[in-house]
Amino acid sequence: MGLPTSKHLPFVMGTVYPPVLCRLNGKAMERLRAECMPVMSAMRLAIDVDIRPATTQDLRALATWSGQVEPVFRPALESGDERVLLVARANQRFPIGHVFVDRRGIISHLVVLAGFRDQGLGSALLDEAESLLRDAGHATLMVEKTNEGAIRLYERRGYVRTGESVETWTEPAADGTMELIDHPSWVMRKEL
Ligand SMILES: CC(C)(COP(=O)(O)OP(=O)(O)OC[C@H]1O[C@@H](n2cnc3c(N)ncnc32)[C@H](O)[C@@H]1OP(=O)(O)O)[C@@H](O)C(=O)NCCC(=O)NCCS
Repeated sequence: MGLPTSKHLPFVMGTVYPPVLCRLNGKAMERLRAECMPVMSAMRLAIDVDIRPATTQDLRALATWSGQVEPVFRPALESGDERVLLVARANQRFPIGHVFVDRRGIISHLVVLAGFRDQGLGSALLDEAESLLRDAGHATLMVEKTNEGAIRLYERRGYVRTGESVETWTEPAADGTMELIDHPSWVMRKEL
């Protein structure tokens, strides 16, 4: 079957979602349009994933999707102090996840690239992060109160809420400028 032309598309969309169309804004409309596109072919890719401490060689590829490279990861790697950046690489090449560990007992910057979530990789990164903290005897992290998925993951792994905090970082505002935004967060801790 070929791709629908713009002539077909309103008909397809109108058939599938007539009641909601009128309430959709431009962005939602775009998403709906993308979902309505027929799949042209489908295949299953096999990838091997390894987790290991990052080197500065990993940073260029990481910087294509992680905003933490220049402000946090590079200075830490270059300082050679007790902080370790763990990266998960697909097929020993491209980084698809990371977690940052301060050997004094802090875990931060746990991220799995969107297309690779819900397959156990976040848990595997946490396993390795915690194994680096056995000597410290505990792991502490902060998670935004609105981040229900991550909180569920941490609680399932034995983290408990021990306090509250407000994390502040810059985000793009509607007018394109960057502004500092407060993010109310839980402090969570696990004894190791
Ligand atoms: C939080 C985050 C790191 C989790 O990574 P992840 O790889 O999806 O984590 P996991 O796959 O180990 O676990 C996530 C869910 O997938 C489920 N899962 C794990 N392995 C699975 C598998 N093989 N098949 C299906 N589901 C699976 C888990 O049970 C868990 O389910 P839940 O949502 O009901 O709790 C990821 O969602 C992310 O990067 N989010 C954006 C950044 C972020 O919020 N980071 C946390 C900052 S504190």
